[in-house]
Order: sequence, then C-alpha cells, then structure tokens
Amino acid sequence: MSRVFNFSAGPAALPEEVLEQARDEMLDYRGTGMSVMEMSHRSRAFIDIAEQAEADLIELLAIPDDYKVLFLQGGATTQFAMVPMNLLDGAARADYVNTGSWSTKAISEAGRFCDVNVVASAESTAFDRVPDFSSWTFSSDAAYLHICSNETIGGVQFHEIPDGFSCPLVADMSSDILSRPVDVGRFGLIYAGAQKNIGPAGLTVVIIRRDLLGRAGPGVPSMLDYAVHAEADSMSNTPPTYAWYLAGLVFRWLKRQGGLAGIAEINRRKAAKLYAAIDASNFYTSPVVAANRSEMNVPFTLPDPDLDKAFLSAAEEAGLTNLKGHRSVGGMRASLYNAVPEAAVDALVACMAEFENDHG
Ligand SMILES: Cc1ncc(COP(=O)(O)O)c(C=O)c1O
Repeated sequence: MSRVFNFSAGPAALPEEVLEQARDEMLDYRGTGMSVMEMSHRSRAFIDIAEQAEADLIELLAIPDDYKVLFLQGGATTQFAMVPMNLLDGAARADYVNTGSWSTKAISEAGRFCDVNVVASAESTAFDRVPDFSSWTFSSDAAYLHICSNETIGGVQFHEIPDGFSCPLVADMSSDILSRPVDVGRFGLIYAGAQKNIGPAGLTVVIIRRDLLGRAGPGVPSMLDYAVHAEADSMSNTPPTYAWYLAGLVFRWLKRQGGLAGIAEINRRKAAKLYAAIDASNFYTSPVVAANRSEMNVPFTLPDPDLDKAFLSAAEEAGLTNLKGHRSVGGMRASLYNAVPEAAVDALVACMAEFENDHG
C-alpha cells in the first residue's frame, strides 16, 4: 500500500489513524455483528456514537450551553439558503462581507430571500484580503451579518473576529473549523460542510445560539427549519450515520493531538513553512496580502502558467497530489487541513525548491 500526500481542498485527507480504526470496526462494530452503516439510527449503539461525537465536538470548541449543535445534510451550500430562511425573522435585509468565491455564492443565494447589503468587498483587489474592519458599512436593520471565515479558493482567512455591530454574526467555517480555537460565544451561528476538517462529505455541522431557533417563517419546509432538527437532536429524518460516526473518530483523534490549541500550533507551523518558502523565492508568488493569508488553503503561482503542467507532474512524481489551483484562479493551491502531516509540507517545499532549481 502506498498513500500519497493529499493536498485536496475537499473532500480532503483524513487522519490515517481514523481510517485504520474505521477499517478495523467495519465488519463488526464493537460486538454488534454489523457495520455502523448497517445500523438503525435509533439503535442504542448508534445513539451512543452520535452523543459521544456531539460531546467531543462541544468539548473541542468549548461550545457554551446556550448553543445547539446540529448534524445535517445538504452541504454548506444548503446553509446559504437555510440561514436567511431561518434568521430573517421578518426583516428585509441582511449584511454580508464579500471576501471571495464562497462569500459571493452565499450573497447570491441570500438575494433570493432578502435585500443584501454588502458591508465590504475585496473584489476590486481581486479578493486578496479581508477589507479593513474600519471601512465596513453596516445597515441599521440587518437581521444578521455573514462572513466566510476562510475562503477555500482564494486562500483568504479572518484572523480576528469582527465587531462593532449589534446583529448576530453568522460564519461559513467550512474550511477552517477545528483548525484553531474559536470563541463560539461571539457568533450567532456557525456552519461547515464536513469534508475538510470534520470527516467525509455528506454531513454538515451547524452550531446555533438557541435564541435564534424557531424564527423560520411559515413557508419554510420542515427539513430546512433549524428548530425541527434541534427538537429531534438531528434525527428528525435518517441522518448521515456513517459520516457522523467518522466525524466522531476525527474528534477523538483531534483530542489526542492536544485539542484545538495543539492542532493550531501544528497548523501554524505548517503554513509558516510553506509561506516562508514562497516568500524566499523569486519564482513562486502568493496572491494574498500577508495579514490575511490562510493557514488552511495556500494558493501560489509560478512565473509562467505554461510551467504549471510540468510542476504538477513533478509533484505527482514525488507523491504530492491535488495541487492544481481552482479553475477560477489557476496556479497551485495546497490545502493544509488538520490531517495533512507536516511531512507533506516538508516534501512539498523540497519539491518546489527542486523545480525552481530546474526551471528558475
Ligand atoms: C468555504 C466554503 N463554503 C461553502 C462550500 C460549499 O460546500 P458544499 O459543497 O458542502 O455545499 C465550500 C466547499 O468547498 C467551501 O469551501
């Protein structure tokens, strides 16, 4: 067996220990004589799995008691609609910050439900930054303020939580949840597709302050109403049981890494190594201003796009895969999620140096 260093933006690398545990428990989950995939979501065995995963997530993120954790489906894209459907509560407007592709998509979807005030946008500088907080123009009657804490495609990340507004803060944390400690109490709602730092695709985690439950309008389908899912502990219909189980294994693994403080230190070191290599060369370039560079997704370009193909082949040969940048921006992108080991970054940096030597 040979496993590659996988820099995919998502679905992404999972911790090897987690995959091994899932393999070992595949055919006979702890004496039940069946796989977790084959179990009723109402069985004692699965309810224990679900409750343990939730408790571990609450502990990892230090989620306060006045929040509810939901294990849903539909991806973060469904949240682009569920957020306005549930939080507008009769208001006509919501505030959004535009830091890149995913913010743009969230804004476009919200526009189906309300008037969207774009508080700040980095579009004029090719989404290379988080606009300075002092320039943000809030509306007085917004139901909530939405940010994308980490733009997976552009590689732009918030390193501070904004303030200076009175409505609830909503964050799409799909690509940086669980990568570092976060003060959940500063948010009204956090959502994340699982397929980067949580587990496999098919699961979406929502963390919502309880006072924001029960605000969906009468026309909102029950499956899109947070209160319905909260009331049923995310078992209002059949949840994505296997993805939930795997997420639980990932949470356990994270606790063994020293929790979010422990993994944050490793993540900081990994990203610093790669950015240092980019900045030290006259060959590779980061398109993002230093203050807002993402520790999870690191885009970089070569001096000539004609070299991209050769770089990708050299990387593949060295066992480094999924480095091609998103089709909308080109160049390269290395996603350094929790499960990407530091050795992967070391190997990438070595490969970059060698390629520069040969082509620089
Ligand atoms: C920041 C961010 N938001 C939203 C999405 C969309 O997620 P999904 O494909 O789970 O709907 C992604 C997917 O990569 C993402 O990175």
